[in-house]
Amino acid sequence: MRFVALLIPVMLSQASVAASHSLVFKNAGRVIQEIQLDQLTRLSHSEQVQVINPVDDAEHTYLAVPTATVFDTIFGTSWRRGDEILMTCLDGYQPSIPVKRFLEHTSWIAFNAADPNPFEVRSRSNGKSIQLGPYYLIWENKQDTLIRSEGEEGWPYQLIGFDLISFSDKFPKLAPPLGASPHAKEGFLVFRKYCLKCHSINGEGGNVGPELHAPVNVTEYFNEKWLKIWLKDPSLIRRNSKMPAPFLAVKDPKKVDRMIQQIITYLKSIPKLRLSQ
Ligand code: HEC
Repeated sequence: MRFVALLIPVMLSQASVAASHSLVFKNAGRVIQEIQLDQLTRLSHSEQVQVINPVDDAEHTYLAVPTATVFDTIFGTSWRRGDEILMTCLDGYQPSIPVKRFLEHTSWIAFNAADPNPFEVRSRSNGKSIQLGPYYLIWENKQDTLIRSEGEEGWPYQLIGFDLISFSDKFPKLAPPLGASPHAKEGFLVFRKYCLKCHSINGEGGNVGPELHAPVNVTEYFNEKWLKIWLKDPSLIRRNSKMPAPFLAVKDPKKVDRMIQQIITYLKSIPKLRLSQ
């Protein structure tokens, strides 16, 4: 449900926190543009966008500009071949979202509520109001059931900046090498989502389970056929394994097979350590 709105400038300057904050765009940590709200709304038509806010699970209408159009203008369309967007919020929180998600789903940068209500949302867990501005990343989730099912993930509020980064900027020890195949990059995303909290690569990550790369990569001593079975369900190999089946929540078996193959491609892509050093 989208309507193109005619914006009356007075309405913006009166109510929006965004009006007094600039939005900073960086490429690999280097500032390329810092823009004000009026410049942002000149880059792309503002729209009234209706979404279900995952914080209170209620429908809200926001004034917003389409993220992809803004990125196309500021970064140039090559951002679409990039790896990840790292965001900065007022309190220093820095979530990051893969570029892929921006390409496959629709998002906007919201800067105000479209109705007279304040640009806030009330948390269901503690009843407190959360200030959403200066800027708030929102996603189409009335039709997009995948986004809907992911809840608050990827909806940073109090946003003040975007940085287009490569995986190796943020995860120097974990990232697949720069020229890695798209399959390996996909595998890295899957690994981060499903494995990193328990496993490390080169010492970076969780330590509930063993390190998987240093000094010897697990794909070297586990053969691929058995590794695939392990990743489906470790108890098929070790009756009392402490590792839970990682993809239990994923209902589509073909998707599970694909993700397992991608993880293996990623694990194999990580540069070998030289043991003599
Ligand atoms: C909840 C924590 C947890 C998660 C999530 C998890 N693992 Fe594990 N993993 C473990 C534990 C604990 C072990 C040791 C289990 C054992 O020895 O029976 C293990 C063992 C392994 C092993 C065997 C290593 C060896 O040398 O024996 C591999 C390979 C592995 N995990 C890969 C993965 C991958 C890939 C993912 C993501 C898809 C993943 N794990 C997700 C906890 C986890």
